[in-house]
Amino acid sequence: MNANNLFRFCIRSFRAIPCTIRLRRCYSVQSKEMDLLQHLKTKIKFSGPITVSEYMRMVLTNPLSGYYMQKDVFGAKGDFITSPEISQMFGELLAIWCIHEWMAFGSPPEVKLIELGPGRGTLADDMLRTFSQLKKKGVSANFSLHLVEISPHMRKLQESKLLGIPLEMVQTPQIVNSDATSKQGRLHSETKTTKYGTPVTWYYDMRTVPKGFSFFIAHEFFDALPVHQFQKTEKGWREVLVEIDEPSDGLKFVLSPIPTPAQKVFIEGKKLEHSNRDYIEICPEAGVIVHDIAARVKAYGGGALIADYGHVGEKGNTFRAFKNHQLHNPLVEPGSADLTADVDFSYLKQMVKGMVDVHGPVTQERFLTAMGIGERLKNLVNNNPKQRKDLLSGYDMLISPKKMGERFKFMAMVPKSGNSDDVPAGFNWGKS
Ligand SMILES: C[S@@+](CC[C@H](N)C(=O)[O-])C[C@H]1O[C@@H](n2cnc3c(N)ncnc32)[C@H](O)[C@@H]1O
Repeated sequence: MNANNLFRFCIRSFRAIPCTIRLRRCYSVQSKEMDLLQHLKTKIKFSGPITVSEYMRMVLTNPLSGYYMQKDVFGAKGDFITSPEISQMFGELLAIWCIHEWMAFGSPPEVKLIELGPGRGTLADDMLRTFSQLKKKGVSANFSLHLVEISPHMRKLQESKLLGIPLEMVQTPQIVNSDATSKQGRLHSETKTTKYGTPVTWYYDMRTVPKGFSFFIAHEFFDALPVHQFQKTEKGWREVLVEIDEPSDGLKFVLSPIPTPAQKVFIEGKKLEHSNRDYIEICPEAGVIVHDIAARVKAYGGGALIADYGHVGEKGNTFRAFKNHQLHNPLVEPGSADLTADVDFSYLKQMVKGMVDVHGPVTQERFLTAMGIGERLKNLVNNNPKQRKDLLSGYDMLISPKKMGERFKFMAMVPKSGNSDDVPAGFNWGKS
């Protein structure tokens, strides 16, 4: 059987998978006093204004009171909701994508599924369930799951979901390299077995994930990484910084009076796309991570799917905050709201140029439609008529251009093939 026939077989088997529905539950957000503002102001008083990147990093992931570190931030009672939390179809179709690429690669026996920033673990859970159901139909991929997560609390939520045990029974992950003065600590890597029998290992940093044939999934991960922001002025580009606002005793944005180190590295002397923009955001960490992923895909095979809200270099002032599903001033009550910036897909593409074949970005609507979400919806509705309303509303949320269908984009990286007809599933649409 060639890869295309195998894929068709796989899709048919997938359609025949029992259509059980898991109700999506929302966890409540624990309220926690955060003294982050004071900490930020003290730092600024002693060492001067900080970059937006430093601000984002401290607010989102500082080990003591970072936004992601201590609480569940998803769902109706949290600050935002993501596609995997809306419908199981999302993870199921991403699993099918991996199976398609695995087959196209000659079905190697061992496959790593590496997810960056897995949130509550819902996407990984939906993918593993689909793999295990396909395995019963004879699709023999042997997956191991590798989760890259910085937050001890998120890691506990993931373990609870994937191992099928109550959250209260999950032990707090061990911190290694802890240093009492800085309170910096890295989470210990450990391996457990999921309820599907798949081994799962957690890592603090992607560089420590073992190499090999792998699929990388990054859904709403890159938008959480810190960006430097630059504004065009009469004197040229200047970096945006965060400073104490004396009258209100809060924080405010200011422009650096002189070129900053980041400006010298990322802006000066560089050929900037859409140079008529008034703002530019650069996420160096995203550049390093995407380069590392491309190097692994090139050397060991597999592929990567990056899905996020983003643009292709035309936007520049997208740094913002969300609290209770509403836009929020990013400098007010730091640590209580999610901070995010749109992913610049053109920058990611530039970082992996010549290393792998890049497809997309295409809109979420196009990708999921090409992956057969319509068929899967019909199948689920037929088998679960009582859930019809919820299923249709989840589908509409994912696909509708006015909701998540247009703003969210998918980009794939696969090994270079040299044949322009080799297009991964979901991307045979031409330009989005
Ligand atoms: C917006 S959430 C997305 C969660 C999930 N992918 C989803 O779509 O539901 C971002 C996730 O990335 C994690 N995260 C943020 N920064 C990280 C970093 N530098 N390294 C690893 N994980 C990180 C957060 O703890 C959280 O699990």
